[in-house]
Amino acid sequence: MSQLATVRSRTQNGLDADPVQVEVHLAPGLPGLNIVGLPEAAVREAKDRVKAAISSCGYRFPVQRITCNLAPADLPKDGSRFDLAIALGILQASEQIPTAALNDIEVLGELSLSGQIRPVPGCLPAALKAAAAGHGLLVPEADVAEAQLAPEARIYAAADLGELCARLHQGALVPTTRVAAAPSVPPATPDLADVRGQAAAKRALEVAAAGGHSLLLVGPPGSGKSMLARRLPGLLPPLTPPEALEVAAVASISRGGFDVASWGQRPFRAPHHTASGVALVGGGSHPRPGEITLAHHGVLFLDELPEFDRRVLEVLREPLENGGITVSRAARQTDFPARFQLVAAMNPCPCGWFGDPGGRCRCTPDQIQRYRARISGPLLDRIDLQLFVPRVEPSALARSEASGESSDTVRRRVIAARQLQIDRQGCANQQLQGRRLETLAALSDEAETVLQTALQRQLLTARAYHRCIRVARTLADLAGARDVGAAHAAEALRYRALDRGP
Ligand SMILES: Nc1ncnc2c1ncn2[C@@H]1O[C@H](COP(=O)(O)OP(=O)(O)O)[C@@H](O)[C@H]1O
Ligand SMILES: [Mg+2]
Repeated sequence: MSQLATVRSRTQNGLDADPVQVEVHLAPGLPGLNIVGLPEAAVREAKDRVKAAISSCGYRFPVQRITCNLAPADLPKDGSRFDLAIALGILQASEQIPTAALNDIEVLGELSLSGQIRPVPGCLPAALKAAAAGHGLLVPEADVAEAQLAPEARIYAAADLGELCARLHQGALVPTTRVAAAPSVPPATPDLADVRGQAAAKRALEVAAAGGHSLLLVGPPGSGKSMLARRLPGLLPPLTPPEALEVAAVASISRGGFDVASWGQRPFRAPHHTASGVALVGGGSHPRPGEITLAHHGVLFLDELPEFDRRVLEVLREPLENGGITVSRAARQTDFPARFQLVAAMNPCPCGWFGDPGGRCRCTPDQIQRYRARISGPLLDRIDLQLFVPRVEPSALARSEASGESSDTVRRRVIAARQLQIDRQGCANQQLQGRRLETLAALSDEAETVLQTALQRQLLTARAYHRCIRVARTLADLAGARDVGAAHAAEALRYRALDRGP
């Protein structure tokens, strides 16, 4: 007589989590476990773990021909997340545990040889999808806090196969009680008040925060570029609940995993310029998110921008335009969100001292040109705000003069300006393109004249023209003005430092 059992589970591909049926069939014949629908290496490992875990927990590994099918066959799957579902399927098919209990519950979890249930990545995306399908989700104990972030999700926890089976014998499983998501404590980001002087740079930071614009800081070493960049997250509006959920979901599929303590905080990612393309953009045989995705809804800080691999920088153009990236590997495509705010920093020339009053720079115009050309025009064009950051006089640093505005004060203005944008167009100004930009950021005649003059004098490229309008719209929003005026256009023009050349 042959026996059949089916357990529900889910794959993970990027933030997608498609349903998988784990079908287990027992039949007379040569004893052995045959898993189909998984890549070969994953099969071998899963077999060993499942077998050991079942016997470690005091259950019988059936001495029959066991066929386990993970359907549909063509979905990308990685092995370990199905361990628990396979083990439960085998125990059900061999009638060692009741079959009804798991009817509408999906199962995720890796098994240790002793039967412990180990955490797996992507429990939050799976919980969101399971809830939408009307199913509960059984997850490793360590992943419960993460899975519970999914609104409406019915989450079950298990720490150990033996203990889980004992509960199944006692009757229906009981869902975990939802603990309120950790209150969104403001992250311990450094405060803007620490930065002395630098009024223009602080203003640019405020404008960047208000409109979601990307920002490039150009200045000599020690001028405070890194210091300023790290203060941007503290100026940004709080994440909306759906945004917070997306940030958590991205963390949940990343190597580091999701830390509940970071719930509701904007990411700040600062990859080193030696980071590989895969580390920045995402990829790998089982595609994982790169830095640009880990910075989703947050800030991506690229320090020493010209030192990054040029090909990697070129890849940034796609996410800067449409907020996402598609990673292709062999037969598989994975989409990752990547709506980050780019802050980049660079020296003005190879030695770093170009434009410094001390006259220390010895670089030739040619060297400077070549250095700056490492950043392509099309990428530069996508950076709305470009600004020179001069060094602050050492005396000004030492003086214990009254510090400037705190991050909180600036943040209040940013939130007000961002609200105007959301009410008007449903998104930050940074995302306005083409015709929408033209209609929503209508220029007054005076503003039009200012920009046209700059175009004619070649202070502005045609492509940078739209960037300027976008920034001018944000400046008007910060001022609470309905229309974009001449002063807003003139200030926007000042944020094109690299267009003007050395
Ligand atoms: N405007 C400033 N106000 C206060 N400290 C500053 C300022 N500019 C630079 N510093 C000091 O100099 C250090 C170096 O600044 P940093 O941001 O690393 O410069 P950069 O990235 O431009 O090389 C900072 O850690 C800070 O102590
Ligand atoms: Mg620095």
